Amino acid sequence: MQLFGTARVNARGHLEIGGCDSVDLVREFGTPLYVLDEDLIRSNCRQYRQGFAAHYPSARVAYAAKAFITTAMAALAAEEGMDLDVVSGGEIFTALRGGFPAERMLFHGNNKAPEEIALALDSGVGRFVVDNLHELDLLEDAAARRRLRARILLRVTPGIEAHTHDYIRTGQVDSKFGLVLENGQAMAAVRRALSLRHVELVGLHCHIGSQVFDLEPFADSAGVMIRFLDQVRRETGVTLTELDLGGGLGVHYVSQDDPPTIASLTRLVSEAVRRAAEEAGYPLPTLLVEPGRSIVGEAGTTLYTVGAIKDIPGIRTYLAVDGGMGDNPRPALYGAVYQAFVANRMRQDPTSTVAVAGKCCESGDMLIHEIGLTDPHPGDILAILSTGAYNYSMASNYNRLPRPAAVFVSGGRADLVVRRETYEDLVALDVLPRRLSAREGVA
Ligand code: LLP
Repeated sequence: MQLFGTARVNARGHLEIGGCDSVDLVREFGTPLYVLDEDLIRSNCRQYRQGFAAHYPSARVAYAAKAFITTAMAALAAEEGMDLDVVSGGEIFTALRGGFPAERMLFHGNNKAPEEIALALDSGVGRFVVDNLHELDLLEDAAARRRLRARILLRVTPGIEAHTHDYIRTGQVDSKFGLVLENGQAMAAVRRALSLRHVELVGLHCHIGSQVFDLEPFADSAGVMIRFLDQVRRETGVTLTELDLGGGLGVHYVSQDDPPTIASLTRLVSEAVRRAAEEAGYPLPTLLVEPGRSIVGEAGTTLYTVGAIKDIPGIRTYLAVDGGMGDNPRPALYGAVYQAFVANRMRQDPTSTVAVAGKCCESGDMLIHEIGLTDPHPGDILAILSTGAYNYSMASNYNRLPRPAAVFVSGGRADLVVRRETYEDLVALDVLPRRLSAREGVA
């Protein structure tokens, strides 16, 4: 049994996380419930920062908010000395509400809206990662109107193919993100950015993909990017000082997964950048990375209540839980796999093989296709592990299921960080035109 962070089996034979018994958590907060191991999140942040402190002291680590962001998460990331990768006005707003300093935010996105650019400029967001020439023009105009100079990095597609799911692979030439390096678009954009008065080009960015287990593509992209920085210097005379290599380090979902450690990533990336810079005679840039999943992924566990168990003899046993693709769309979207336990009977060995189904009205709403569980019964608590990244952040209200609550647990304390949605929340944004209201409609 592979548990992460502070998770363990306690004396009652229950799953305990952050010193909190999962059965007690369910009693207090209900299910489905996202439980986040605060100590593990902090320790992952520290491993990134310490890894770079040892190998590349000027490096900065920007937590990728898209993986999981709430006001509490923003506050925690700020406390841990992280920068923040944000991709929308909504993420900027959330982070500001959590007290995250705007200066330490990097604003990403391949189609930033004028209102989002305005919000970012007006709140003092530190860096824009510009994806395309249209955005460059929008930003120049918006900054000029405010008599500001916006600091930018240009996003480049380095032509590196990371081995991961097609939907989360981004470094290849055929991508909706970034400016292509090999056909000259990236260099043309550099020249254009350097010609503008209200943007200050400080560096370059790339991101090869997500849930990446092989470190080699990270080293390759470091080499490609340093050589491009050198080309920029030779062709324009400008020495850019920042290099952002994006996020992407994979995590464990099932026990066969074997992702590299944060320490090995920070060491390898630092060495690759140093080596490439030395070879090119390029001054060491300030290095940035943007991990999301490897900060929060393994720190999240979703607790569900087991409901209907349907056995189709000779075919399959379906065990249904009180959540599903609404709180975790990843199996349906990417074929993602997960491990699970009966949290209130952790000591017993698996006795049945089941498929874990969600409660949404579609057959694709399966959370786990096949898993051995301990004689599960209705009313048991099912814990699905490694749900900290891209679960809450991609949750929906499909079938009008309220989205779950989320708690941070640490040292035996559980603090609510997202309250459970209510039916009232579900209709709060609905508008019923007078002509459609039953009372008005009666002739
Ligand atoms: N930086 C950029 C520019 C990104 O696009 C991403 C992720 C990250 C950083 C953070 O990557 P991470 O360290 O988390 O791998 N919804 C998908 C993942 C989409 C990732 C999008 N970009 C999933 O559930 O697997």
